[in-house]
Amino acid sequence: MKLSLVQRLLLIEIFFSGVWTQETPGPMSLECLGNLLRITLSAEYFEDKYLSLFVVDQSGTAWGIDEAMAAQCGYTVTHTTSRSIEFRASALSCHSYLEKDVFTVTIQIKASHAPDMSNATTHLESASCHHGLWSPRELMCESNYMEVSVRREVPQAIKDFVQDQPEDWTPVFPEAKAEEASIWQIVLHQPEEKRALLVGNAWSAGYGLNTTDSRVLLRVPYTAAQVQLVEDQGITFSVLRSSTFYKYQWVILMVDTAVACPVDGVDYTNKTITWTVPKYIPPLSAGVTSFKDVLVEAGVDLLKLSAKEMASRKYVLLNELKAITMKIPIGAKGGYYKTSVSNGQLGVKYTINLFLEHQWEDNKWRRTKHTIIREIETPFEQAEVAITNNLNLSERLMAVTVGTFLPDVELVNLTIEGVPVAVPEAVQHGYLIHRARYANGSKAYVIEVPLDVPSIKKEYMREDMRAYTLNVTLTFITYPSSETFVVPVTALSAVKDAVLPSARGFCDGRKLHLIITHGNVDQNWLPFVSDWHLTQEAAQKYNYILRDNGTHLAISVPFLSPHVSYEGFHTSAIKASFYLTLKDGITLAQRRDFSVSCIFSPSELIQCLPNGTVIITAIKLVGGEDLDMSLLVLRDRQCKPSLVTENTATFKFNVNTCGTSRKFNSTAMTYENEILYSRPGNDTPIYQLKFLCSYGVKQTVDVQYESKKNPPPSIKPEFGCLVLSLKLFKEKSYSEPYQESEYPVVKYLREALYFEVELLQPKDARLDLNLDDCWVTNSQSQDSLPQWHILIHGCENNKASYRTVFHKVNYSLRVKFPQHLKRFEVRMFTFFQGTSLLQEQLYFHCSVVVCNTKQQPLDGFCAGGGLQH
Ligand SMILES: *[C@@H]1O[C@H](CO)[C@@H](O)[C@H](O)[C@H]1NC(C)=O
Ligand SMILES: *[C@@H]1O[C@H](CO)[C@@H](O)[C@H](O)[C@H]1NC(C)=O
Ligand SMILES: *[C@@H]1O[C@H](CO)[C@@H](O)[C@H](O)[C@H]1NC(C)=O
Ligand SMILES: *[C@@H]1O[C@H](CO)[C@@H](O)[C@H](O)[C@H]1NC(C)=O
Ligand SMILES: *[C@@H]1O[C@H](CO)[C@@H](O)[C@H](O)[C@H]1NC(C)=O
Ligand SMILES: *[C@@H]1O[C@H](CO)[C@@H](O)[C@H](O)[C@H]1NC(C)=O
Ligand SMILES: *[C@@H]1O[C@H](CO)[C@@H](O)[C@H](O)[C@H]1NC(C)=O
Ligand SMILES: *[C@@H]1O[C@H](CO)[C@@H](O)[C@H](O)[C@H]1NC(C)=O
Ligand SMILES: *[C@@H]1O[C@H](CO)[C@@H](O)[C@H](O)[C@H]1NC(C)=O
Ligand SMILES: *[C@@H]1O[C@H](CO)[C@@H](O)[C@H](O)[C@H]1NC(C)=O
Ligand SMILES: *[C@@H]1O[C@H](CO)[C@@H](O)[C@H](O)[C@H]1NC(C)=O
Repeated sequence: MKLSLVQRLLLIEIFFSGVWTQETPGPMSLECLGNLLRITLSAEYFEDKYLSLFVVDQSGTAWGIDEAMAAQCGYTVTHTTSRSIEFRASALSCHSYLEKDVFTVTIQIKASHAPDMSNATTHLESASCHHGLWSPRELMCESNYMEVSVRREVPQAIKDFVQDQPEDWTPVFPEAKAEEASIWQIVLHQPEEKRALLVGNAWSAGYGLNTTDSRVLLRVPYTAAQVQLVEDQGITFSVLRSSTFYKYQWVILMVDTAVACPVDGVDYTNKTITWTVPKYIPPLSAGVTSFKDVLVEAGVDLLKLSAKEMASRKYVLLNELKAITMKIPIGAKGGYYKTSVSNGQLGVKYTINLFLEHQWEDNKWRRTKHTIIREIETPFEQAEVAITNNLNLSERLMAVTVGTFLPDVELVNLTIEGVPVAVPEAVQHGYLIHRARYANGSKAYVIEVPLDVPSIKKEYMREDMRAYTLNVTLTFITYPSSETFVVPVTALSAVKDAVLPSARGFCDGRKLHLIITHGNVDQNWLPFVSDWHLTQEAAQKYNYILRDNGTHLAISVPFLSPHVSYEGFHTSAIKASFYLTLKDGITLAQRRDFSVSCIFSPSELIQCLPNGTVIITAIKLVGGEDLDMSLLVLRDRQCKPSLVTENTATFKFNVNTCGTSRKFNSTAMTYENEILYSRPGNDTPIYQLKFLCSYGVKQTVDVQYESKKNPPPSIKPEFGCLVLSLKLFKEKSYSEPYQESEYPVVKYLREALYFEVELLQPKDARLDLNLDDCWVTNSQSQDSLPQWHILIHGCENNKASYRTVFHKVNYSLRVKFPQHLKRFEVRMFTFFQGTSLLQEQLYFHCSVVVCNTKQQPLDGFCAGGGLQH
């Protein structure tokens, strides 16, 4: 049976405190504590080593200590306050050497850096202690076993009787012979039966039995199968009732070896540990009739304390009629706090090693000494971790202090942005970690992080303030229990270093532009036009341009857009503005407003297309009448806008529709209409926008429109044009004209030429095309000489030999407006210059007059236009 108890002492930090710690020069320190020997293995020395403990018997054999062996043989191995290892041996331990009133225990320690104990160093320590005077009965409640030893008394009568008897009785009782001068058997008093165990069997069952010259010993592990839990006076005891038979010569004697140890009786209310032990416990007082207290003493860590020392530590020891009570304020000197983790939560437990010695006298035992060693640990109490944040602005550092923590806690990991980082590696992330230690052994961790590391979140707060948020989770481990817990650390520092976005606005052509220069706070700000989020898709829908190149956000919006506001409309100017708001991407709080305002010409509102189509947009002014733009109409109220937004209404119509009127003067043909808005039941318009499209002759077109609104806007000219054509047809049916590529067309004498003159644009049914003069030249210039006149003021030139014939034009699929066409036929005659016959190319020119069909020119005349082909 050679077992080793392996202890790993992983000590990151050593701190000595408490009543009895002292610097020890060697790896071990020894103390004699009455019937116990204590050997303390220095934490410093055995730091980070694997240990095996052995006891060495008199013959020099080393016996490895394990839990069962320790409880059976009277050894205890525990950790102390300072995380040293404490070894205790009973004076009556299996391997003690007893001589007079001295017991000697030898311990061997092997220490290695490897778990397989290779290259172990061996330490041997032998200690001898005076055990003092034994009481007739001694009971000891150790943390892992109960021990009772009673004086081996042989009444004189028996001594006399034995001397008279022969020595050779032994063959009759082989067991008695085998266990000479020793215990013969033990009888366990179970409630339902009595069970006798011979020594060998009792040993196998985990009991420790022996006799010395003067004493009979029984040692019972708490875990032994026959141990009963018995309640008395509200306190539970571990009890073993037994009678032990031992020999004197050939005579068997019997002794009561009952043992009882309290296992509870501790209460933690009122921040006080209250430990109550009943005084006279039935199993220990069987057959007893009178008691007398002799002594009640108590102490900590096996050291007795005087009444004065106890008072100074605020301990209370009450010796009452039936019970002894000890009260220790939680946290008092003598005990220590240790870190504890429950459900991942950090907490503390207070631990104190109390012991109580009660001696009494009674009529059966004369004197009993009952020693109870009791390690008390308070229940888990959650602890708060203080986190303080100190900003060092000049260094741009956040210094966060986390703690304090007890010495048995070590920081192992940080979780930075979800990634676990071991403490030594944290520096690579810019985190500098150091430990602050306090005189009482507690410590705190200081984490220094530059404000500008990426893992510190920066957010805009207000005005020029930015919030820097450190969000890191710390993982700690406790020693020696190796429990882990985490402390989430969130620290915020406000720094006045915000740079807000700024903007520049300008306009060109028909667009408003806003260029926003990003600051250092607007990474997640979003552009909004009032409540409308200007996304890339939204921008696309309205032909807005939204471009962000990382440093700038550029936005371009056409002048006529649903999100442009019109704030002024004067004779020559419209003030248009575009407002943009940057909102926080998460909270949608309004952060910054920007706007660009530009002056546009009113002519931007109108387009007079050559084919007679007019596109005109009416706008609603900010602060003006609240118009429903869809209710705007033209003079002909059937004409409604084709496109309506909140601020605009666009009409698209032909000049010969919608009640458009015309005017002529010598240079232009002017169309006029107006956009109107009347309240229902009231014909007087509250909105009137008059506009003109002038199609000038010689391609000049004047467009004007005016509003009755105050002030009447005046507008830059818009160009439209009057388009005429002169074509030569192949036949009288006028179905197929000569194409451009067929010119010059070759014609022979007297061959007929079929001409057609057409007003192509505007397509206004109320216009009439009339031919004025038509003439032929032999160069491209219409003014060149000579000229041969075919038509003069719309009439055939009777003087010419080439007769001209007009053809009536009827409505057809091709001819929608017959009044826009004139056809005539000319027969090729010889054209002479003087007397010489011209055989070169000839050019035909016509001038036309476009008139109002109803012959009611407002200015009193028709306008004429030149045309050549
Ligand atoms: C009993 O005690 C004696 C003397 O201390 C010792 O030599 C012996 O080994 C012990 N026996 C047992 C079984 O512990
Ligand atoms: C044991 O110690 C020796 C000498 O100190 C050393 O050379 C050897 O590497 C060690 N072995 C182990 C397993 O540590
Ligand atoms: C706790 O303290 C209160 C008031 O100080 C007292 O009434 C109560 O009895 C105490 N409880 C215990 C268990 O000592
Ligand atoms: C900031 O750090 C510098 C350098 O470590 C130090 O000199 C200074 O006192 C610190 N300032 C504050 C306010 O802690
Ligand atoms: C600490 O982090 C490392 C990875 O960096 C991981 O392997 C280790 O398990 C972590 N330790 C604890 C106690 O969380
Ligand atoms: C140790 O000292 C520090 C600093 O003085 C204090 O904050 C902490 O509470 C103390 N810890 C204990 C257990 O007394
Ligand atoms: C801190 O980070 C964790 C994990 O990355 C996250 O769940 C938590 O919400 C963060 N806390 C704050 C205050 O940002
Ligand atoms: C971003 O756009 C702005 C304005 O449009 C321009 O001034 C700047 O140079 C651009 N920056 C980059 C990196 O392209
Ligand atoms: C006139 O021209 C515009 C632009 O080219 C065109 O959209 C429109 O349909 C045309 N109108 C007519 C009646 O042909
Ligand atoms: C003809 O009308 C246009 C547009 O109304 C005007 O600009 C122009 O001066 C007028 N011409 C004459 C000769 O009156
Ligand atoms: C035009 O119409 C008139 C009467 O409607 C008819 O007499 C004449 O023949 C037609 N001319 C042509 C070229 O179709």
